[in-house]
Order: sequence, then C-alpha cells, then structure tokens
Amino acid sequence: MILPGLTDIHTHMREPGGTEKEDWSSGTAAALAGGITTILAMPNTNPPTINRETLGIALKIAKIGARCDYGLFLGAGETNAEELPNIAKDAVGLKMYLDQTFGPLKLDSLNARLDHFRNWPRHKIISIHAEKDNIMSSILLAGMFDRPIHICHVSLKDEIEMIKAAKENGIKITCEVTPHHLFICREDIAGREKEFEVRPHIAERSDMNALWENMDVIDAIATDHAPHTPAEKSSDNPPPGFPGLETSLPLMLTAVNDGRMKMENLIEKMYTNPNRIFGIPTQPDTEIEVDTEASWEIRGKDMFTKAAWSPFEGWKVKGRVIKVILRGKEVFSNGKILVEPGYGLNIAKKEEV
Ligand code: NCD
Ligand code: ZN
Repeated sequence: MILPGLTDIHTHMREPGGTEKEDWSSGTAAALAGGITTILAMPNTNPPTINRETLGIALKIAKIGARCDYGLFLGAGETNAEELPNIAKDAVGLKMYLDQTFGPLKLDSLNARLDHFRNWPRHKIISIHAEKDNIMSSILLAGMFDRPIHICHVSLKDEIEMIKAAKENGIKITCEVTPHHLFICREDIAGREKEFEVRPHIAERSDMNALWENMDVIDAIATDHAPHTPAEKSSDNPPPGFPGLETSLPLMLTAVNDGRMKMENLIEKMYTNPNRIFGIPTQPDTEIEVDTEASWEIRGKDMFTKAAWSPFEGWKVKGRVIKVILRGKEVFSNGKILVEPGYGLNIAKKEEV
C-alpha cells in the first residue's frame, strides 16, 4: 500500500549537547525507517534553542545532519519573549513547557507566559507541554488571546474531555497523543515503572481507553521520540522519555489491522492534520510503501535510533515500512537507509513573512 510521507510533530534530536542519545544523522535515519519524512524538533537540547545564537547553532547542525525534512521549535523562556518574534521565520513554532520534564525550559512566570502569547507571530502555532490543570490555563490563554494552541501528548481522560469541551466551545485548540499512551497502561508495567519513566507518566487503563473513545478529538499521533541511552534508562534515576520514531507507524498499522482504527484516520492524524496545523508544505514526489500484511517483532537493537531500546520490545506488530521516496529520491528500502545526512530541508524556510 502506498501512503504519503508522514510528519512527526514532536521529536527530540538531542543535538547539540546529547549526541550519546541521538544526533541528527541517527535520528532522521530512524524517522525514515519509520515512514516519517518530516520531523519537528523540540528545543530542549543543550544549549536549548531559545535565541538567535542557539537557533543559529541548531539550524547549522540540522542542515548538515538531516536525512529527512525538518522544522525547529523555539523554546519559550523567562526572558526571550521580546526577541523570539525577530527570529521566528526560521522556526516552525514556539514550544512552551508548563510542566517539569527533561531539560531546563519549564516556564513558571505568568508574566512571561502572557508576553509570549502577546508577541509570538500569530500565523505560527504555540505547542504546549501542559498536564492536568495546566491544560485549563492554556485553554484560557488561547481564549484570551484568540489564537491557536496545540497541546502535546495528552494522556488522561480528564484532559481529552477538557479539550473536547474547549473545541466544542470555539477555542482554537488541537492536540496530539503518543502511541505509548495509546498502547501501554500502568498495569502493564507493574514493577517496571522506573524503566518506563516518561512525561506525561503512563496512565491508568481507564485513561488509555478514554483516548481511544475520543479518537475524533485527537488531531495528531506524535511520537514524542525522546531517546535516552539504555544505561541511563536502567540507572537509579532514569531520565523520562521513550524512542518512538520506528514503532509509531507499525503500531498504528496494527491498530488498523485489528479494526481499532480506519486507515483514513491514520493518514489524517499522521499526515494531513499535522501538516495543516503547522503549515507544512507538501513534499513533491514523496510517498512511502508499506506492507500491511507483514508481521514482525519489535527489537530495539535492530533500530537506527542510538537509544537502541524500545518500550515495545518483543511486541508483535503487523505492518512494515518497505520503501520511502522523499522528493523523488529513494531514501529507504528494505531495511537500508539510502540517503546521506544533508539531504533534509528546513520546511520553515520557505514561508518567510
Ligand atoms: C522528553 C525528553 O526527554 O526530552 N521526555 C519525555 O518524557 N517525554 C521531554 C518531553 O517531551 O516532555
Ligand atoms: Zn517531548
């Protein structure tokens, strides 16, 4: 079956500063192997992408290392709300962290939150890491400033219901859910919670079920590919995050095979809606070929991500990426990456305003 090249709107590339976990070359190879031809990279690198200088560093590294197309997020900080609009044209969106997670970007000051909502260019979206009542305050900000927001990795029943109500009442809000919150719940990981440390945390079965029941409220499936090394994940104080680029499509194809989801909804949530929400241009001559009948077992050690482990280790899935064509070039075929770093383009570059 031929599908469009997919877009992942929530990816952590780890470069600069964390190349033992991932770099642009390994991370974008993982994307292509997962049928993803565009990734949007998060700003919680080291240094974080928060001003002209660090955006310049990130753009340079991405240009050299990327095998697929990409966009970069700028991070909303306590003191950069004035500067960001001047450099926004090279970025795909603004990322605001209202809850604690990996990296230094948690935004506490109310003033700074308001300033970012006032200043950030209106045609570019604000993606928010907000959990529980922070979703409520995000909805309030979206309403107050009448501008679109995107909520990252929704994981709880209460959260998806809040977003549903906000949508029904005219708030400009979209949201994403990760495969790990759709397929793993707390009772599955009993006794192994440390290894499964991730933000938002793996939730209860009732939460997981509520996400499936509200599939029509979910605009996008996003990986939140957040690679950390196996050594870090098995340490006493494991950092939060799972790799996900190579398992997202196979898991969702399995859901289609199992009759839990329609193929047209998969395409809508992994391609059409992500591109519309973030204003991503269509990639010409781009498609992926998947074998929807191929059954295989997920094994971290076979992956392109440097993380080389998976929270879905040993899972049997049905649906495999066979070939990827990106802008007329065969970039992945039968398990092999056929494109060098540097082929990827910055999708934000084209829409200068
Ligand atoms: C992410 C990371 O490691 O960068 N971790 C995670 O658990 N999801 C950060 C984030 O998206 O919250
Ligand atoms: Zn993330």
